[in-house]
Amino acid sequence: MISDQDRDRDTLDTIFSKALQGRTLFKNHKALQSDFVPDHLPFRNTQLSSIAEILAPILHGSKPSNLLIYGKTGTGKTAAARHITTKLAQTAQKKRIDSNFIYCNARMSGTEYRTLCELAIGIGLKIPFTGLAVTEVLSRIQHFMKQHSLKTIFVIDEIDYLIRAYGDDLLYDLTSSSDKISPGFLSLIGISNDLQFKEELGARVQSRLSEEELVFPPYSAEELRTILNERATVALNTKAYTTAAINLCSALSGSEHGDARRAVDLLRIAGEIAEREGSDQLDERHVRIALQKIDQDRVSEALKTLPIHAKIVLLASIYSSQNDSTHSSSGFVYDKYSELCKKTGLEALTTRRVSGLLTELDTLGLLTAAVVNYGRYGRTKKITPQISFAVASKVFESDDTIKHLIH
Ligand SMILES: Nc1ncnc2c1ncn2[C@@H]1O[C@H](COP(=O)(O)OP(=O)(O)OP(=O)(O)O)[C@@H](O)[C@H]1O
Ligand SMILES: [Mg+2]
Repeated sequence: MISDQDRDRDTLDTIFSKALQGRTLFKNHKALQSDFVPDHLPFRNTQLSSIAEILAPILHGSKPSNLLIYGKTGTGKTAAARHITTKLAQTAQKKRIDSNFIYCNARMSGTEYRTLCELAIGIGLKIPFTGLAVTEVLSRIQHFMKQHSLKTIFVIDEIDYLIRAYGDDLLYDLTSSSDKISPGFLSLIGISNDLQFKEELGARVQSRLSEEELVFPPYSAEELRTILNERATVALNTKAYTTAAINLCSALSGSEHGDARRAVDLLRIAGEIAEREGSDQLDERHVRIALQKIDQDRVSEALKTLPIHAKIVLLASIYSSQNDSTHSSSGFVYDKYSELCKKTGLEALTTRRVSGLLTELDTLGLLTAAVVNYGRYGRTKKITPQISFAVASKVFESDDTIKHLIH
């Protein structure tokens, strides 16, 4: 009789021997991973030149203006900022110009403290990873920069995460510390894919941070095709993919707003699926399977990371629409939401806050909130969930606070 253990070993052996035959489609898998920065960024010459012009003063010892970079997701903001700062750092090093170029992603860092730690590490200052007050860390950094006349450019990517969690005090301090740092200086580059984020900044920080502003427009499907073709040449073996597969990846990623990340992700996942199947060539079928997988993962990820009240609002809208479609006005959803809050012991937010959450859920594509005008009876929002109860419940069941609301 074959034991389970033997069977497992057989399956693993088959997988390994396939891999050992070396029939791989990828020649450089890294080139399709999300943190890869390509040497060449087509269609971003204007933006790259503008950033270079804004930052170039650092090469003759002057403080560059602060810069705010905007643009929807996958429009090349991170890639461009990393590309330019690496190039600048190389030039500065070659010419023996004293300067620091530090990159930090606020979402990854998570806290103000950790963001400042990245800055401290970048300038060569030792700070304990916990335990100090944020203001203390900041003043140690400023003191160190003054003492050593450090000229620094600090890139804070996904800066909106920091503002949303902590407000803009730290940004205020960072952008108004020139006397405390002089003769050194600190220029900030903030990057965000949230076009509304600037409105959340106080007026004083807004004007300081956006001395210069740059917008990254979405790519057209045609542009995505060129980008993807270049990337495929670096990442995949010749003959390991069809032109039709590349075209399909580009068309599928260009249909919403020209998102290069989605195009690159699609190609990578399609390649992995093709390889796992043992195919010799990545074709359109693999791209379609990859698309399904990406969409499912994206929805689950969006649901998982929602704040608790947004989860309850979404659930309320799903339950409301199950009862009767005429009832899915925002008022009805709010009543349902309050009822669910009571069951979890949470205090319900005001209708205004809930209305804001509905707009956010709409932006994420999890529901649509269309304004309906009832003439002199006023206006309301008609709420239509865009995901099924089955999909939501699968994710929410693992959330201890609301799992008992699933029925
Ligand atoms: N012009 C380009 N040429 C080649 N690759 C590009 C180009 N623009 C973007 N990419 C690639 O697309 C992917 C997404 O780009 P990037 O991470 O820079 O987007 P982003 O604008 O920072 O998006 P987000 O706002 O979501 O952070 C990366 O793999 C990047 O290398
Ligand atoms: Mg980015």
